[in-house]
Amino acid sequence: MNGQLEDLKKDISGCEKCDLSDNRTQIVVGDGSPGADILFVGEAPGRQEDKKGRPFVGRAGKLLDELLEEIGLEREEVYITNIVLCRPPKNRNPKDPEIKNCTGYLDSHIRIVDPDIIVPLGSFATSYILDKYDLDNGSISNVHGNLFSVSNLEGQFKIIPQYHPAAALYNPDLKEVLVSDFHKILEVL
Ligand code: URA
Repeated sequence: MNGQLEDLKKDISGCEKCDLSDNRTQIVVGDGSPGADILFVGEAPGRQEDKKGRPFVGRAGKLLDELLEEIGLEREEVYITNIVLCRPPKNRNPKDPEIKNCTGYLDSHIRIVDPDIIVPLGSFATSYILDKYDLDNGSISNVHGNLFSVSNLEGQFKIIPQYHPAAALYNPDLKEVLVSDFHKILEVL
């Protein structure tokens, strides 16, 4: 693993900035290639992720793997993390203070991985990423599959928000939308 990511992992270990530390089994930092062109940002670990210490290893993760395969990518070629790194009890939505306490770690991931494309998955990640780069924020149903370009001191990169794969587990119609939106990632890669 890249030394900077190792250092970040050490910084994060034992984090007790919020109450999510009380119930977690472990912090789920991130997974994948440190030199990835694409950084996926999910919401928060679920039960399986909390148990295994890796993001997207449950049912939503299986669908994410399928979507990656659909565009000819393997999980090892991308980097995956979440805006909140500890499992919220009963998989509830992360609360604002939990997100605020944790996004410094996401910002560090973005600096270190330095991706060409950031793909926020779902409304929480999309809202944080679009706000961070002062982009017009809308609901995920309006911005999914849209291409945003950023050029700043950190460099140049693109953002393509996606519905969260878990949403397609509850609403199968969204799977087709996700497949079509994932192909847009390929178009700019
Ligand atoms: N959902 C997420 O947003 N992140 C995970 O790691 C797993 C499920």
